[in-house]
Amino acid sequence: MYNSKVKALLVMAIMATTTILKAEENGLNLMPQPAEISVGQGRLAIDGTFRVALAGYQEPRLQDAATRLIERLSRQTGIPLSDQVETDPAKATLVIQCDHAGEIIQSINEDESYSLEVTPQQARLAAPTPVGALRGIETFLQLVHVDSQGFAAPTVRINDRPRFAWRGLMIDACRHWMPMDVIKRNLDGMAAVKLNVFHWHLSENQGFRVESKVFPKLQEMGSDGHYYTQRQVKEIIAYARDRGIRVIPEFDMPGHSTAWFVGYPELASAPGPYTIERHWGVFDPAMDPTNEKVYTFLDKLIGEMAALFPDEYFHIGGDEVNGKQWNSNPSIQAYMREHGMKSNDDLQTYFSTRVQALVKKHGKKTIGWDEVLHPGVPKDIVVQSWRGQESLAVAARQGYMGILSNGYYIDLMHPASQHYVVDPLEGATAGLTAEEKARILGGEATMWSEYVTPENVDSRIWPRTAAIAERFWSPESVKDVDSMYRRLAVESRRLEWLGLTHRSYYPMMLERLAGEQSAQNLKFLADIVEPVKGYARGRARDYTSLTAYNRLVDAARPESDAARTFASLVDDWANNKTQIKRQLTAWRDNNADLVPLMQPNALLQEDVPLAQDVSALATTGLEALDYLESGKPAPQAWVAEQSALLDRAAQPRAELLIMIVTPIRKLVEMAAQGKP
Ligand code: ACM
Repeated sequence: MYNSKVKALLVMAIMATTTILKAEENGLNLMPQPAEISVGQGRLAIDGTFRVALAGYQEPRLQDAATRLIERLSRQTGIPLSDQVETDPAKATLVIQCDHAGEIIQSINEDESYSLEVTPQQARLAAPTPVGALRGIETFLQLVHVDSQGFAAPTVRINDRPRFAWRGLMIDACRHWMPMDVIKRNLDGMAAVKLNVFHWHLSENQGFRVESKVFPKLQEMGSDGHYYTQRQVKEIIAYARDRGIRVIPEFDMPGHSTAWFVGYPELASAPGPYTIERHWGVFDPAMDPTNEKVYTFLDKLIGEMAALFPDEYFHIGGDEVNGKQWNSNPSIQAYMREHGMKSNDDLQTYFSTRVQALVKKHGKKTIGWDEVLHPGVPKDIVVQSWRGQESLAVAARQGYMGILSNGYYIDLMHPASQHYVVDPLEGATAGLTAEEKARILGGEATMWSEYVTPENVDSRIWPRTAAIAERFWSPESVKDVDSMYRRLAVESRRLEWLGLTHRSYYPMMLERLAGEQSAQNLKFLADIVEPVKGYARGRARDYTSLTAYNRLVDAARPESDAARTFASLVDDWANNKTQIKRQLTAWRDNNADLVPLMQPNALLQEDVPLAQDVSALATTGLEALDYLESGKPAPQAWVAEQSALLDRAAQPRAELLIMIVTPIRKLVEMAAQGKP
């Protein structure tokens, strides 16, 4: 080993070649970007001699993390590695130094910071707690890439910590059942991008998804047999804890609760019988806030679930009660009159106050959707804002803690860029005082599952959620959208290595659609369409939980990289003529093989007009280029004809949007003027 003088000289040499760069410019593909990074010029080789050592505080979670790190590195590089953790730090390629134990039950106060120094000799990861070490391990794995000499990590110095303490992903396991493997692989994905809260939406009109031993008819009659046993819940909680992730269960009350009433109709505000809801939407059934037996029931159930889920927070839902059952129940109306309640809001306030008291009695703090915020609720509740940033600002001003979900609804199929620019501390919250801002704990992406199945759910979560995770972790100044997309593409591939299926589902679903034919031509079309945005699918058809989600709209990715790339080529038209022409020609000619495949296929017939319009749009684009190259404006009649095509092609069909309409329109507009 080096003596201390040589070491000091080495450190100086490294520092001399080190430049501190803005996050966007460091040239590394880290996601989320660390708080502070300086990049040197050397490399630490990663080869078959790679060893990890643990130093300082030890616990099984760290041993397991080291073993997983080795397995992942081996998988990622294809290099066989010894899975033995090295006992002598001097012999290790990576030393993980942890100072002390973390919290027994991870909370919003857990220290997640770490520092990572990579020199050509060794990488040293230092963290106060195991959770910080877990975060640093993910950064280390993201640093490893192939260069001209093999696999290596660049020499860097990183000091990192999260901007927000609450960085979540909600998965709705109710509208569509999400088996254990879906949850586990998404926990892996969350850990990879440093998310730390898994919000498990466990009860809905369409299903009660966790085993209750106290009220077994909840799952026996309300789940079609699709529920997590308590043993499985514990397995998920342990799996999440191993990855530094808290698990928060949501039991949505008093609305969104039809599935509870199948087994326990006496909880509802109208007589049963009830059946599991199969449709999507907001429905009438709601618990009866005036019935004491409801609170007796909830006391026992919350007690059981509070013991099962260790996190200090317990989510009681509270959203979207339409009040119809309350309005039409004379005894509820009489109760409201007797108790001076003037509105259904007053009645819901009464209900949530009672439920919050039960949550508190069982040792937990309440989190709920916006609707739980009303005068007098205890200040230790967390408000999850789904309706807008305004309600988050209102909550913070009144002294409540809040997290933002509005803007992070990944089920709505918006592009990563749209989510990325939403900041919990900008917009309506920007005017808050520092003290009020400190009450905004972070945010959560929400994966509602009306239109996703275990087959394609990963593709609706990833990679876009990695961009949201960066918003929650990285400094506020990390905002460059082009940099985000460049790194997101790399992170997307890494996530697939980790076991997520957001890439591999795509050829599989396309092959199913193509039947016994090759899916190659179909992929060409699928690559440039996206599902309709927002809640448009719900208006297009009568969907249920029994519908087959096997159409092109279910295979299509939420965001077309091909269309975005094409749009950027068109933006710099004069320098990209050859590429644009090649691309347009390929789209124009794709139909010769594709349409004959689609016409006799029950799943694809509805998409034929889209294929035909893509071909027509490509022809238009080629003609526009010819006019542009001629230097003369395109004839008015031609322009008018293309406008009609563009308007038609911009309309959704088969719940899909053609994403090259905008850049083609741009080419037509330039051609109409005879100049770019
Ligand atoms: C919600 O989206 N209703 C919370």
